[in-house]
Amino acid sequence: MIKIRNLRKSFGEHLILDNLNLDVRRGETMVIIGRSGCGKSVLLKHIVGILKPDRGEIFVNGENIVNLDRKRLSELRMKIGVLFQEGALFDSLTVGENVGFLLLEHSKKSRREIFEKYVREKLAMVGLSGVEDLRPAELSGGMKKRVGLARAICANPELILYDEPTTGVDPIMAAVINDLIRKLHNQLKVTSVAVTHDIKSAYKIADRIAMLYQGKIIEVGTPREIKNSSNPVIQQFIKGEKEGPIK
Ligand SMILES: Nc1ncnc2c1ncn2[C@@H]1O[C@H](COP(=O)(O)OP(=O)(O)O)[C@@H](O)[C@H]1O
Ligand SMILES: [Mg+2]
Repeated sequence: MIKIRNLRKSFGEHLILDNLNLDVRRGETMVIIGRSGCGKSVLLKHIVGILKPDRGEIFVNGENIVNLDRKRLSELRMKIGVLFQEGALFDSLTVGENVGFLLLEHSKKSRREIFEKYVREKLAMVGLSGVEDLRPAELSGGMKKRVGLARAICANPELILYDEPTTGVDPIMAAVINDLIRKLHNQLKVTSVAVTHDIKSAYKIADRIAMLYQGKIIEVGTPREIKNSSNPVIQQFIKGEKEGPIK
């Protein structure tokens, strides 16, 4: 579903991604772990074409998105649901308008049809029926995350990307969100990619885990393989996270 080859990205003098390679299989949940600031969000933004690499290739569903024109990129993006870090809801829109945003902007369907056939169904799937007329400011942090989730799945994507889905919510809400990610993955038969520095969340949702370190993916494996990895960088990350987030 995703094939990344020799991806390189720097901002000024600062090299963030350094000849990075990664394969994500169709239908799996891949979780990319790594310390804060190591380039996880930057990597995710390349997969949706928000950032352009200095060098390298990014195939999504067989298409090299680096060379796509705006129209093709916008078509491809309709098939990708993204849960951005912090939810990124628009405060001036209602919850329902936030959830249906992509369809309201880009599809020819009527507003009524979008609300009846997509928005309500997706809100129900994340356990939030009847909130479509509220404003984001009226929601708790956990509810905002779930509205972000409903928005990510609204247009029936084939690929869902999650940026730090459990960051900034309490442990109980984190467990709810991890369960939702697994449930939606199985129910919607999608490919999922999450980036996180939360190793517990990674163990719960991943089929495979990839570790990003110094601009490269240094190891890929099942949660069990990663847990038992002999790589000291991985062990340090896992142990560090048990004692609290690494700054
Ligand atoms: N648009 C940008 N311009 C300049 N530097 C950036 C930009 N986006 C990210 N960075 C830098 O790239 C590094 C990786 O950022 P990021 O991918 O957000 O880390 P994280 O792994 O925490 O998600 C950081 O040092 C950040 O400051
Ligand atoms: Mg980030």
